[in-house]
Amino acid sequence: MSELVIIGSERSEAGIPAAMEILRRGGSALDAVERGLQLCEDNLADHYVGTGGLPNARGIVELDASIMVGSTRAFGAVAAVKDFPNPISIARAVLEKLPQHAFLVGEGAEAFADYLGFTRAELLTPEAKELWLAQLKTVPSESIEGENTKATTGDERYRMAALELVTRMSPHDGPWGTINIIAMDKSGEIVCGVSTSGYPYKHPGRVGDSAVPGAGNYSDIRYGAAACTGRGELALRSGTSRTVVENMRSGMTPEDACFAALQEARALPDDFRAELRCLALTPDGRHGGAAGMEGSTYTLMTENSTEPEFRPRKALI
Ligand code: GLY
Repeated sequence: MSELVIIGSERSEAGIPAAMEILRRGGSALDAVERGLQLCEDNLADHYVGTGGLPNARGIVELDASIMVGSTRAFGAVAAVKDFPNPISIARAVLEKLPQHAFLVGEGAEAFADYLGFTRAELLTPEAKELWLAQLKTVPSESIEGENTKATTGDERYRMAALELVTRMSPHDGPWGTINIIAMDKSGEIVCGVSTSGYPYKHPGRVGDSAVPGAGNYSDIRYGAAACTGRGELALRSGTSRTVVENMRSGMTPEDACFAALQEARALPDDFRAELRCLALTPDGRHGGAAGMEGSTYTLMTENSTEPEFRPRKALI
């Protein structure tokens, strides 16, 4: 019998205690991950996932989510989904009820959710709308100083590009962060789930790494599971989650495996560079994480935990 372990990214503590309770009662890692992420998606104070997520360049919330089972490497994902508050549950339904496919996007994913009876809801909360509008009015620091219009960081460059995009696209008057949860149940099954509203101000239809197997999510019961948060384009280009799992396969600790995968992603040229983070869990219950900056943590609960603990991630400096 395996020990019960759940790890998650920053802000996953909104869902991990309930997920652990499911495992303690003998429930599956699949149930635990889905429930944990549902609670995160329903957390209105979290503006990077589910209801209350920050919208795209047109002011519309589009959600991505995926779930992967380590023993079969079965994968279910949805991307660019509007109007449904729990994309992780639609992703699970793709995995279980649509075995001939693994990944649905946009209207097709929404039609599938309608067919299964999922309830539609307004995802753009007044607070998220206000944050979205406030950011649009923010001018990057170098422009404020009047030196030139070249932004200093990837985030600032991204915002400037997004602002330009919104100006062009909008006909009306008008530390982001995905959530990862990885759970191991009593049978030793390892399930990895990821949910996000994606990059704020993204181009409509943009899909990041969260819904893409090998990029933002990967689970293989032989070696372990890994997931990413942060700049999804880098994880897409470098296959970061799969790289972490391959690194663990070659004998690295979870922390070193994450660190090496992030180093590989960091070597890619990227004008819009922003932080990428990852975390990983092995079949024998070891875990670790790495991040592009100091001070990042991941969340941990084991069978005997009374509350979530926060563990440091190794920083790329
Ligand atoms: N990592 C989430 C995203 O880039 O959408």
